[in-house]
Amino acid sequence: MPKKKGKKAGRNGALAAMTRPDAKVRDYDAHVLVCKGGDCKKRGSKEVQKALKNELRTAGMNRDVRIDSVECLGLCKHGPNAIVYPPGTWYLGLIESDAPEIVDGHLKNGEPVEHLAAEFRPRKKRR
Ligand code: FES
Repeated sequence: MPKKKGKKAGRNGALAAMTRPDAKVRDYDAHVLVCKGGDCKKRGSKEVQKALKNELRTAGMNRDVRIDSVECLGLCKHGPNAIVYPPGTWYLGLIESDAPEIVDGHLKNGEPVEHLAAEFRPRKKRR
C-alpha cells in the first residue's frame, strides 16, 4: 500500500488531516457535464442526458465518454445546457433530438456542432 501524504493540524488547532485517496480515475476521451438544475430539469435536461447516453451506447462509445450531472451552469433561462470537454464547448437550449449530432459530430469526430454551440463573449479586462 502506498504511503499516504497528509497535513497536520492547522495553526488554529483544527484537525485538518488531509490524505490523498488511493483511488485511480479512469481515462476518458471526453467528459460531458449536463445541467440538472431546476430550470434545466423543467425544460427536459433529464431526457437530453438520457438521449446522449443512448446515442453513446449505440455508437459503442459509452465507455469512452463520461457523462455527469451538475447542479447549475449559471445560464438557467437558456437550458437545458451542457458543456463538452474537450475543448469546453457550451451547448444551450438542447433538445433530445440534438443528441445524435453531438455524439456523432463532436464526441466521435472531435468537431463541436457549431450551430448548437454557444458563442463566447470576450473576457472582461482586469484593471
Ligand atoms: S439550472 Fe441549468 S444552468 Fe442553471
